[in-house]
Amino acid sequence: MKPIQVGLLGIGVVGSGTFNVLKRNQEEIKRRAGRGIEITMVADLNVARAQELVGPGVTVVSDARAVIANPDIDIVIELIGGYGIAKTLVLEAIAAGKHVVTANKALLAVHGTEIFAAASAKGVMVAFEAAVAGGIPIIKALREGLTANRIQWIAGIINGTTNFILSEMRDKGLDFGVVLKEAQRLGYAEADPTFDIEGVDAAHKATLMSAIAFGVPVQFDKAYIEGITKLGATDIKYAEQLGYRIKLLGITKRRAGDAAKGTTDGIELRVHPCLIPTKRLIANVEGAMNAVVVQGDAVGTTLYYGKGAGSEPTASAVIADLVDITRLHTADAAHRVPHLAFQPSAMSNLPVLPMGEVVTSYYLRLRVADETGVLAKVTGILAEAGISIDAVLQREADEVVKDIATTGQVPQTDVIILTHDCVEARMNTAIALMQALPSVLEPITRIRKEELA
Ligand code: HSE
Repeated sequence: MKPIQVGLLGIGVVGSGTFNVLKRNQEEIKRRAGRGIEITMVADLNVARAQELVGPGVTVVSDARAVIANPDIDIVIELIGGYGIAKTLVLEAIAAGKHVVTANKALLAVHGTEIFAAASAKGVMVAFEAAVAGGIPIIKALREGLTANRIQWIAGIINGTTNFILSEMRDKGLDFGVVLKEAQRLGYAEADPTFDIEGVDAAHKATLMSAIAFGVPVQFDKAYIEGITKLGATDIKYAEQLGYRIKLLGITKRRAGDAAKGTTDGIELRVHPCLIPTKRLIANVEGAMNAVVVQGDAVGTTLYYGKGAGSEPTASAVIADLVDITRLHTADAAHRVPHLAFQPSAMSNLPVLPMGEVVTSYYLRLRVADETGVLAKVTGILAEAGISIDAVLQREADEVVKDIATTGQVPQTDVIILTHDCVEARMNTAIALMQALPSVLEPITRIRKEELA
């Protein structure tokens, strides 16, 4: 049988990795797919560079639409990124009856509903294994391997840039800004790192996992997103002393409401720095590596670990999608794996809960005047709010001048409190009350905590 023909839109880091791996492993891939898979056409603005990368046997053009219009092309790989021209081209490829493989998490997290509907109407597949956690086959695991399960929660380190920065901050005791500059110098962080450090990239990925895990539409606009820019080396150090490590987690949970606690049914979808017990495997995922923990009712806890970015790791995921499509493209559309794991007619309308309704536990750090009765006032506010304390640690603040007679400065101390679970809205109220105490000298640091038990 003649090879399936693939058109590649954008030959950057992932595109060239895909071309190279496909070529290097072509025999092995053919034995798996049942027929050869060949990139026969590439569109890239830098035609000369692209031609040099792929050699003379492949047609290179500057106009992506020429690839889409080519009747011999069966599958289009979109590796342009973003939601601008990439969205237009993906929709045009679908309209032209092409199957699409994309690594574009931003596009699918924001416009997935429209794109998947267009693909279903046209009877083509949109595959996106490379969009979440790079080379880790987490989409396949969630959509197929764990299909027997009622998934309860997912928690993932799904952004390598921020995990690298947090690892360095912990290892070297440095603050965020210093490590970011070093990460940029080493190529671990982009010149404009906003999407990574503000948690947006992780939220795109968490949105996709949430949709697949719970059979809800992609709802990036409802995700709570908090990045790592405000984290300090002090909190990382205190967390360590308490047996926790701070990671940027993408979390999605199915939450059963409890009338007594004033909570309702829904889905939590959030990205924020999080304390997790050091003894958990995922707490020890360091550097730019990614890992995802999935809790299913039948299987229990499963962990997926690997490279979340990079040329060939991401190519590994792109090619897995090419093989899937090659195997399935002649199958009746109804017999293919649904884009979001659940049949489109059986999607749930379980709402994504606002952050105020999320239930989690907390790490609080209060810089207070070291004087009689302060701790009693603080713990009194928490008790009044119905928030149960798990642990309290008091530490002399590193930078405090103790010689009050000479400096006139009030002695200060850091009070660190770990709480049990409570509804976020209650914690917001308690923090506002504690902040208003004259003895609380600086803005209170609040970092959420997950036991991942
Ligand atoms: N910028 C991402 C990361 C990789 O740092 O993990 C692509 O999603």
